[in-house]
Amino acid sequence: MSVEDDKRLAAEAAVAEVRDGMVVGLGTGSTAAFAIGALGARVARGLRVLTVATSEATVRAASAVGITVSDFADYATIDLAIDGTDEIDDRMWAIKGAGGAMLREKAVAAAARRFVVIADGSKRVPAIGAAKLPVEILPFARSFVTAQLSTLGAIVTVRPDYRSDNGNLVADCRFAPMPDPRVLARMIDKIPGVLGHGLFLDEVDAAYIATDGVVARLER
Ligand code: A5P
Repeated sequence: MSVEDDKRLAAEAAVAEVRDGMVVGLGTGSTAAFAIGALGARVARGLRVLTVATSEATVRAASAVGITVSDFADYATIDLAIDGTDEIDDRMWAIKGAGGAMLREKAVAAAARRFVVIADGSKRVPAIGAAKLPVEILPFARSFVTAQLSTLGAIVTVRPDYRSDNGNLVADCRFAPMPDPRVLARMIDKIPGVLGHGLFLDEVDAAYIATDGVVARLER
């Protein structure tokens, strides 16, 4: 079994939770792409769902397999969201955003009555913190925000020639080691000019993690 097989198995397990008539949030990234494929196959067999997407790339991927995507701006809540992750631990804390979509991903995850993470086993860690933490920054406040992030102990790298789907900058923050994620999240949230970051500490309800072809389900 390859890592790609594990991503697909985890994605299929999560898509099995989708029921007729649900509003489903579609994640971003290579694992979420398998979920979009699996959902598209069910839609082709007659499943009726409404979906919202966490990135423009996901809108395109979903449309390509015949899934209709609605505007998340019209939804206060959704039923289920399915998304990948960069790291996840047994507290159900996750770091997301390697693909730069964490601001929309967190809004969709927070709106979801159930948020399910899908991953291959390499993403499961004893404690999150080794992955780069992406932070979405208002371009107007770039230098101020990156300086503030540095004072929190991060080595900060603004992604060159990159804008998020929202037109903003993304900086990757490396911590060695990462401070208490709860404290860190509060500190980052307080910086004016920060629009979002990849610490997902309250959103994840469940995770399907596939390792060597075996899918484990974690529930909060
Ligand atoms: C996108 O911004 C990210 O949050 C992804 O969900 C995360 O990086 C996982 O991506 P892969 O499934 O491609 O590893």
